[in-house]
Amino acid sequence: MTDLSTTYMGLKLVSPLMAGSSTITGTVRKLKSLEDAGAGAVVLGSIFEEQVRAEVSDMVAVLETQDNPEAYDYIRADYPMQIGPEKYLDTIRQAKALLRIPVIASLNCTTRDHWISYARKIEQAGADALELNVYDIPHDPAEDAAAVEQRHLNLVAGVSGELRIPVAVKIGPHYTSLANFIKRLTALDVQAVVMFNRFFQPEIDIEKLKLKSGINLSHAEDSGLPVRWIALLRGLIPCDIAMTTGVHGAEGAIKGLLAGANAVQVCSALYTPAGAGVIGDILKGMSAWMDRHDFGCIADFRGSLAEPAEGAGRGFARAQYVKDLLGRRE
Ligand SMILES: Cc1cc2nc3c(=O)[nH]c(=O)nc-3n(C[C@H](O)[C@H](O)[C@H](O)COP(=O)(O)O)c2cc1C
Repeated sequence: MTDLSTTYMGLKLVSPLMAGSSTITGTVRKLKSLEDAGAGAVVLGSIFEEQVRAEVSDMVAVLETQDNPEAYDYIRADYPMQIGPEKYLDTIRQAKALLRIPVIASLNCTTRDHWISYARKIEQAGADALELNVYDIPHDPAEDAAAVEQRHLNLVAGVSGELRIPVAVKIGPHYTSLANFIKRLTALDVQAVVMFNRFFQPEIDIEKLKLKSGINLSHAEDSGLPVRWIALLRGLIPCDIAMTTGVHGAEGAIKGLLAGANAVQVCSALYTPAGAGVIGDILKGMSAWMDRHDFGCIADFRGSLAEPAEGAGRGFARAQYVKDLLGRRE
């Protein structure tokens, strides 16, 4: 009998599989179906900084005039965009009243100004933790890499340490020195890093000569990027790690845990016809795999393929690539 229970940021989870932030985690009814399917925790759809500052209609108008179709599409695709900040707090309260599993709120911010007080409201509404979604596409040629990183660190520093609930930071993979950035991030009193957000990619309609809107979902092959970095950094950072991107089945979730993730988030797979049922399928697959390998609990295998902090690496960096190339020549 396998035991899938684990902990993440000090929260007890019935399983390491969390429903990641999206439109699906925006309504209490859907959250309940995710819990019923076996999710260990849910991360609510993000509340966007723009929502905290302005009414939704104002925000849409601003984004439309700002020639920023990517941001507009991302936000338009998202349910929380349709609701105001008070409604977001209501969703947290209702979710807490209905669910037994941890409810993690999500805040998307690009500036430090407006959100510390809102983060406190989120805490007061009863969220078990807060995930900061650092969704940012720095494209100002005047801002160098150091300035971008410092801006992101300032965002996090603004809230970590201010709340009693645990804080996770969800980042993208595009930092010049990812390992150095994450090391500095984890010095800021955060309880987890969520690796990696998958930014929406713009699509051009070549007939209409304009950008297409719509959601593009991940594929199982996309899990390689977070798995590599989780394995490389597991031994070097003190806080928990959640994997996001490319978990579409038990195999992806197991890879993330073997690499050293404490929990694994699933999002795109929830948009397939199986819906929340994917959670049960993944958990069933994980249990069967654990049985086959005689693992009684998650701790029996979690991190067992992470790169050792010292000594010969397992090949998550360059070694495997070189080996494969040389192997092919033989
Ligand atoms: C339709 C949709 C909406 C999303 N909304 C959010 C969001 O509000 N906040 C957030 O942090 N991530 C959001 N994401 C990103 C997901 O949480 C996840 O990190 C990403 O899709 C990679 O995981 P996946 O491969 O399982 O989809 C969204 C993704 C999708 C597909």
